[in-house]
Amino acid sequence: MGKIIAIANQKGGVGKTTTTINLSAALAKLNTKVLVVDCDPQGNTTSGLGIKSKIKDDENYTSYDLMTTDASVEDCIQYTEYDFNPQLEVIPSSVNLSAAEAELNNIDGRNFILRNKLQGIKDQYDYILIDCPPSLTVLTINALTAADSVIVPIQCEFYALEGLTQLMQTINLTRLRLNSTLKVEGILFTMYDSRTNLSQDVVSNVKEGINENIFNAIIPRNVKLAEAPSYGKPICIYDAKSSGAVAYNELALEILKNDKIVSKKKDVQKSTSSRPAGKSRTGVKSVGTSGKRAARKNTLIEKSKERNKSKENN
Ligand SMILES: Nc1ncnc2c1ncn2[C@@H]1O[C@H](COP(=O)(O)OP(=O)(O)O)[C@@H](O)[C@H]1O
Ligand SMILES: [Mg+2]
Repeated sequence: MGKIIAIANQKGGVGKTTTTINLSAALAKLNTKVLVVDCDPQGNTTSGLGIKSKIKDDENYTSYDLMTTDASVEDCIQYTEYDFNPQLEVIPSSVNLSAAEAELNNIDGRNFILRNKLQGIKDQYDYILIDCPPSLTVLTINALTAADSVIVPIQCEFYALEGLTQLMQTINLTRLRLNSTLKVEGILFTMYDSRTNLSQDVVSNVKEGINENIFNAIIPRNVKLAEAPSYGKPICIYDAKSSGAVAYNELALEILKNDKIVSKKKDVQKSTSSRPAGKSRTGVKSVGTSGKRAARKNTLIEKSKERNKSKENN
């Protein structure tokens, strides 16, 4: 049974992307099969996992196509090039994803697009991690609707709790209207500085004030975590001995333990399934043309119009 986890907090700069990159890699290093869906138009998860330089928006399907056309998950997948087994897979994002919100406005069932797309392939993975943008608009709602659980990174700083109530309200509304089984996988403290009272105060305030799961693993402030993305590498490859790498490995182990998944490390033989970047399961490069893409999008919009028409007629 695959598990879909959204990494969400509408506050920017709290460590969503850093967590998506490094948790996905830590899980993959423990030999679980992981797919990352980058739903942030900034695409920092995509580039942080070394993918950006390999894709061209007009030649490859991205999360924009996943959301706005009938492109399938498999059409959009790219393969990272690290020495994981099985290889870590990514649906990259592109800047045009920021236009998706407006484009989806008139589409029926727009909050369920990602859920419907991921449902069919969910069980091919142990984990699917979705990096959310710093907003609570349609992309984040799609992620929360598709997800089994949500990780909420909180930066250990003065304004840490700002917006948390709003996020919890959104999670509750999502449960009520779109996804009744959505769980909070855990609140994750990030950028923790053990030398400051402030970090310690934030942790104890949240523990006292919030009745949700809180991860034992705490991510320290570690400059290596900030450096690694510019090399397109997750921390477990950039500097496996750094405090950041150790912390994200602990987080991965905690999640596996909560899910009662024993690290698959020993079971896995060198596989034949590692595919080079840009290749699909069939070995055909997943390249789309803008024409093809426009046609697919039209179909989606047409289908929606038809549904609206038949509703009116009934
Ligand atoms: N634990 C950490 N230690 C040091 N720098 C961090 C840490 N976590 C994140 N950063 C840096 O903080 C900035 C914001 O993090 P990011 O993961 O992009 O946040 P978000 O995705 O929530 O906007 C980035 O420059 C990132 O490199
Ligand atoms: Mg981000």
